[in-house]
Amino acid sequence: MANEGKNLVGVDIGTTSIKVCEVKEDRKGSRTLVRFGFHPLPPQTIVDGHIMNAGAIVEGLERLFHKSKRKDIALRVSGHSVIIKKITMPTMTPAELTEQINWEAEQHIPFELADVQIDYQVVHRRDDQGQMDVLLVAAKKEEIGDLINLALEAKLRPRVVDLDAFTIQNCYEMAYGEPSPDETVVLLHVGASLTTLNVLANGTTAFTRDVVNGGNAITEEIQRQLGISQPEAEAYKCGSAQGVVPSEVPQIIQDCVDSLSGEIQRSIDFYLATSGDREITKVYVSGGTANVLALHEEIAQRCQVEVMPLDPLLVAQPDPKTVDPVALQGRTAQAVVAYGLALRKERERAA
Ligand SMILES: Nc1ncnc2c1ncn2[C@@H]1O[C@H](COP(=O)(O)OP(=O)(O)OP(=O)(O)O)[C@@H](O)[C@H]1O
Ligand SMILES: [Mg+2]
Repeated sequence: MANEGKNLVGVDIGTTSIKVCEVKEDRKGSRTLVRFGFHPLPPQTIVDGHIMNAGAIVEGLERLFHKSKRKDIALRVSGHSVIIKKITMPTMTPAELTEQINWEAEQHIPFELADVQIDYQVVHRRDDQGQMDVLLVAAKKEEIGDLINLALEAKLRPRVVDLDAFTIQNCYEMAYGEPSPDETVVLLHVGASLTTLNVLANGTTAFTRDVVNGGNAITEEIQRQLGISQPEAEAYKCGSAQGVVPSEVPQIIQDCVDSLSGEIQRSIDFYLATSGDREITKVYVSGGTANVLALHEEIAQRCQVEVMPLDPLLVAQPDPKTVDPVALQGRTAQAVVAYGLALRKERERAA
C-alpha cells in the first residue's frame, strides 16, 4: 500500500472506553504522538459489540474532539461483527478472483452475503502447486453503518474503517519491523469483552481467532463472588482501590486467567496442529487486560513461549507539549488499536 497525505486521527470505540491517538509524521518519516484522548464509557454502552447507548458515545466523541481541528478519522469495527478467514483457492488472475470471490465467501461466511461487506487480499501464492492463500474478511454492513453514523453525529469525518487484528499488526510492524520469514509471532489483544489472536507466519497473517472473553469477565466474577458493585470490583481488579483488597481477589483473578489462557492455548495448539508450523517464536500482548501480569505468566508457562507487552511508544513517542503523560500512563496497552488506526493516511492506494 502506498500512502499519501496526512495521518488520520485514530478513534477506537471500545466496550469500556474511547481511545484517540493522533500521530504526526515529518518529512523524514519520523513520528510523534501529538494527541492522546481517553474517555470512559458507562457500563452497558456496548454489549457484545452492539451499541446500546449511542448518546454516551456521541457525547464522548464530542468531548474528545471539541478542541480539535482535525476531524478526519479512522475507526475500528468490533470483532463481534467481523469474520476473517484464510482460504485456499486455485491460482487465478485478479480479474478472475474478483469474479469468484463472492461464491467463495458464500461457502465460508456464515452471514447472508447481502448483509456483509466483503474484502480480500492474496497473502501467499504457491504457483508450483497451482494454489494461493486468500485472506477473506466479511464485516456486517449494519454495524459499520451504525458506527459511521455515530461519528457523523459527532461532526467527525470517518475515512477508513479497519479491524482490530489488522490495526494491531500495523502497530506491531511499525514498532518492531516485519517478522522475518522463519519467525511465527502471535499478537494477542485482550480487551474488555473480546480477545483477538493474530498469528503472523512467513510475514503475513496465517491464522486469526476471536475468543469472547476478556477483562469484563474478571470484573463480573469478582462482583458476583463478593457481592459488590461493578466500580468496586473494577478497582480491586486494577489495584486502584483504597483500603485493603479482600483476600479472595487474587484467586478469582487467577481462576479467570486460567480459563482465558486455556482458550488461548487451545487456539495456538489448533494453529500449530493444522499449519505444520513447529513453534511460536514470541507472543506480544496488548489491550487493557494485558495489564494483568498473571496472564503473561500463565500463557508463557502453558505455551512455553516468551510473552512480551506490545509497546506502541516504539511507533511514536508522545510530544510532551501536547500529550498529558498522566493520561497516557498505564494506558499504553489500551492505546494500541488507536495507535494502529492513527497510522492510516488520508489517501491510500494499492501499490
Ligand atoms: N491496570 C489494569 N489492571 C487490570 N485490568 C485492567 C487495567 N487497566 C485496564 N484493565 C481492563 O482492561 C479492559 C479494558 O481494556 P480495553 O480498553 O482494551 O478494552 P475495550 O477496547 O474497551 O473493549 P473491547 O475491545 O473488548 O470492546 C477492562 O476490562 C479493564 O478492566
Ligand atoms: Mg478494544
